[in-house]
Amino acid sequence: MKVAIIGSGGREHALGYSFSKSPDCSGLCFLPGNGGTHQLGQNIEINLTDHNLVYTTLINEKIDFVVIGPEIPIVDGLGDFLREKGFIVFAPTAEAARIESEKSYSKQIMKKYGIPTADYREFKDTEFESALDYIREGSFPVVLKADGLAAGKGVVIATNFSEAESALRDMMLNKVFGDAGLTVVIEEFMSGEEASIFAITDGTDYLCLPAAQDHKRIGDGDTGPNTGGMGAYCPAPVVTPEITQRVNTEIIEPFLGGLRQESNPFAGCLYVGIMITNSGPKVVEFNCRFGDPETQAVLPVLEGDLLGLLYSVAKGKLDPTKVWHNGSVAVSVVAASGGYPGTFKKGFEISGLNSVEGDNIVFHAGTKVSDNKTLTTGGRVLAITSVDKSGNLSAAISSAYDSLKKISFTDIYYRNDIGHRAIKHS
Ligand code: AMP
Ligand code: GLY
Repeated sequence: MKVAIIGSGGREHALGYSFSKSPDCSGLCFLPGNGGTHQLGQNIEINLTDHNLVYTTLINEKIDFVVIGPEIPIVDGLGDFLREKGFIVFAPTAEAARIESEKSYSKQIMKKYGIPTADYREFKDTEFESALDYIREGSFPVVLKADGLAAGKGVVIATNFSEAESALRDMMLNKVFGDAGLTVVIEEFMSGEEASIFAITDGTDYLCLPAAQDHKRIGDGDTGPNTGGMGAYCPAPVVTPEITQRVNTEIIEPFLGGLRQESNPFAGCLYVGIMITNSGPKVVEFNCRFGDPETQAVLPVLEGDLLGLLYSVAKGKLDPTKVWHNGSVAVSVVAASGGYPGTFKKGFEISGLNSVEGDNIVFHAGTKVSDNKTLTTGGRVLAITSVDKSGNLSAAISSAYDSLKKISFTDIYYRNDIGHRAIKHS
């Protein structure tokens, strides 16, 4: 089958890398793709908000199966539109994607179906003063979340009242996140270690891929502002068999069941962001898609046919026998443009890409090819994933950093401590 992957990040490059190994994959198209994906298939520059144009492009390319990577086109209804036109699409409906696009919806479902998560209340912009009263009466730190999509930047952890007040004012009154911040979820701070779990589900049955851990902060030692994610590794040893069991029975099963009961079943990749607290796993967030950069660490430890797995879901019945963990570990370290997640310069040539070899893979993100040169175009530029087949995470980490040293571009920045928590555990 010929497959179209919608998106342009490292996650989409990693999906293409896995699909290309499937015996059923006869060709790949990336809409729009990046400076690395063209090595696996064809990149088609396109405006994803023009659904008719996407449709005619897919028809012209004789696409059999569409996989949507990022949340925005899913929430924007591209998957629904293409399904109505007869395409087979791996992506939840826009209605089910509200679990990510409206944090308040997600919290309401969790509350209604008894799923462990932080205590919270939601406030509209007309309730600014009541929200301040609620914060004043609570404890610190307190977590403020813009209700809508904010590219991973809509969460503020305020350590005192004045920080909380100013964050709330920015979200609700100064509209720094536009309409996404008009409603704000104010929730209890949870302490513990985080992990990301991808449950591939047809709405009822599900298959959890090995758990990963992201590194959201920009600086070593988890310092500085939040980013889209600076690196990940998989499997994450903090997610023990006991935690996995609890996540399945206390979180994933009641959540999928609750959504079915609400006549809003979720079929796709359910991203479960958990905090492992003293009283067990609690939900930090649900997302309606694969995580980035976790995908770049999860897919390389899988054996089997990921394409077949996703296709089975898109056809309505999960086939959980399609993939399994092959016992290896992987770490993925993101190289970013210096200045990210704030302002940064782009357009710099990347050198050394061809010197990365062995069990090391370069997944591109913010890159493009121009005049045979690969240039930086974004904040997160690329990620190096290193796989250790014997399951030795320290070896994979060393290998990733050795490979990263071979790559250079002006202002390159990466964290030096990806995987530090797992090393501490061992
Ligand atoms: P989110 O976009 O909801 O994943 O939040 C971004 C990051 O903020 C998470 O990965 C956590 O590190 C942190 N965070 C969000 N909610 C909480 C919470 N209730 N307690 C502690 N940390 C949180
Ligand atoms: N890495 C976090 C996310 O994909 O939301």
